[in-house]
Amino acid sequence: MTLNIAILPGDGIGTEIVAEAMKVLQVLKQNFNFDIAWQYGLIGGVAYDADGCPYPAATQALVHGSDAVLLGAVGGPKWERLDKPLRPEAGLLAIRKDLDLFANYRPAKVHKQLLQASTLKPEVINGVDILVIRELVSGIYFGQPRGIEDLPDGQQRGFNTLEYTTSQIERIARKAFEAARVRDRRVCSIDKANVLEATEFWRSVVSDLHAREYTDVALSHMYVDNAAMQLIRAPKQFDVMLTTNLFGDILSDEASMLTGSIGMLPSASMGEKFAMYEPIHGSAPDISGQNKANPLATILSVAMMLRFSLAREDLALHVEAAVDQVLDDGLRTADLSHDADVAASCSAMGDAVCTALLGANA
Ligand code: IPM
Ligand code: MG
Repeated sequence: MTLNIAILPGDGIGTEIVAEAMKVLQVLKQNFNFDIAWQYGLIGGVAYDADGCPYPAATQALVHGSDAVLLGAVGGPKWERLDKPLRPEAGLLAIRKDLDLFANYRPAKVHKQLLQASTLKPEVINGVDILVIRELVSGIYFGQPRGIEDLPDGQQRGFNTLEYTTSQIERIARKAFEAARVRDRRVCSIDKANVLEATEFWRSVVSDLHAREYTDVALSHMYVDNAAMQLIRAPKQFDVMLTTNLFGDILSDEASMLTGSIGMLPSASMGEKFAMYEPIHGSAPDISGQNKANPLATILSVAMMLRFSLAREDLALHVEAAVDQVLDDGLRTADLSHDADVAASCSAMGDAVCTALLGANA
């Protein structure tokens, strides 16, 4: 049976990093008995330019008919002045919501070869293996009412709503407990229960579910400000970090720096029916078109896709081993390198991963 993948490169470096990930998929298809087909679609700013909408109907139809989605990145200065619903970011939020991708898995695992690339001391980060599980389709990102309005006194007011229902919390907490069961069996739920009612409620729903069904997993709770500090002070204390949409956005960027670069972090966004894979970084307009970006987060996202959506754990392990191999060989893109002059290009990095993969097959 042929697996069908939707490829949405998006904006900025999205095109470049996805091109390298596609080289990897091509190698797998040709050499590893892997029956896969793909089709490209538009999302973000490029979709707005072509169709006047950041998540066009054609893309929606494409992803609904696919076994998995691979996405690059969206956004850029060109589209910053558009009305909010037309901006590239709105396209990303729309596809997440449309596919109900409520569970966002963002693993921050330190590669030994990159201990020196981090801004933190090697002894602090050596052995870090954290899985951030971020709620992705509710919370303050989607809560109503929201807006910017005029006030009678001539001022304006900007406002958003943070809300979570029992079922929204339970379904993401379940994913965290289940993930912990095949890891170190520890979940730390991050909230701001001392100030925000919505997350006080989050804490109580997580605790109740834990007591009812997951007592084999150790559950702790932490305020988000403390968690931000602990991530830098002693990151090895964390196994699974469970958190809300906004806190997860922030903490996963922070966690990425433990690994040396945000260019290393893959992610999987999962719903009951659909799944989408994307690097956690953005479209990096400042380096776009220069063949400088690090494609490894996207290539590692392909590994997650192979594992979670395509039932090919064997190939996921191959891809991860190939990434390890190129890092062992000393290859570094600019984000990981202390010396920009000797840094590998995006395409050189992709080619090297492909060569390592083929080596594994020899
Ligand atoms: C991410 C990004 C997005 C988010 C932006 C681009 C809308 O920062 O995936 O982490 O805030 O979720
Ligand atoms: Mg983010």
